[in-house]
Amino acid sequence: MSVQYKLRAEPMRPLIAGNWKMHGLIAQLAEIKSIAAAVVAGNPPADILICPPATLIVRAAELAGHRIAIGGQDCHPETAGAFTGDLSAEMLKDAGASAVILGHSERRQGHGETDAMVAAKANAARRTGLLSIICIGETQSQRAAGRTLQVCRDQIAGSLPIGMTPAELVIAHEPLWAIGSGHMPTAAEIADVHGHIRMTLVTRFGSEGRAIRILYGGSVTATNALRVLALPDVDGALIGGASLKAIDFDAIIRTVAASAPGWDQPADRAEPPVEVHDLDSSKRK
Ligand code: PGA
Repeated sequence: MSVQYKLRAEPMRPLIAGNWKMHGLIAQLAEIKSIAAAVVAGNPPADILICPPATLIVRAAELAGHRIAIGGQDCHPETAGAFTGDLSAEMLKDAGASAVILGHSERRQGHGETDAMVAAKANAARRTGLLSIICIGETQSQRAAGRTLQVCRDQIAGSLPIGMTPAELVIAHEPLWAIGSGHMPTAAEIADVHGHIRMTLVTRFGSEGRAIRILYGGSVTATNALRVLALPDVDGALIGGASLKAIDFDAIIRTVAASAPGWDQPADRAEPPVEVHDLDSSKRK
């Protein structure tokens, strides 16, 4: 049985995703263990994903249990081959990943990734059953020039491969100037951009485009998460710095949970935990 992350469309569960970037040695796996324990205990009404460095995926997946998912941060379009230093989607899945971040601005800018390359990678993710979290976002100068909506539309048009279905896709809107900066757009700006992203998805996918989660990313912390996640068409967050420590990430997860009606039920009356992905139990032993 394969690992398969499931899109929960109705009602749409927020997706709280941590992007560890190039942070994390084996010692940091303790953070994943703590996050997994807190999620099992709290049973928040959200899907939780952590994308550690590839070196930690196997062990992270073992620690994550059935309630949180583990993802990669990039993949190569090909299945295998002479691509020194690269990892295929098949390798990520084999290691225990059920999702992959694609087209993060640090890949687009630092590694020259184009929309077409992101689309090719998303095809690889589709091929293996990994959920694609496709990142888009404007630079400060594009924003200043009033081009944010056009940039996001163009990146969606270019980065989603033909044939991709809504169930295979999450969009993460991350303004480049907000990443790691402590600055973020105003609530009205986020709502405006996400509303346009929603319309772009509905134009492409019809009403099914309404079930695609649109994450906000860029300087999300426990302090601002509630305000951001309450906005229309913000269906979760992609979190960098504040996902590295269980104490910070848990605080964000709790913030989301606290905003959901009925979450503060006693554990014995709460809904049973929802598994966000099928797990190959033989792999987890
Ligand atoms: P940040 O990063 O939360 O540290 O701003 C977000 C991201 O790059 O995904």
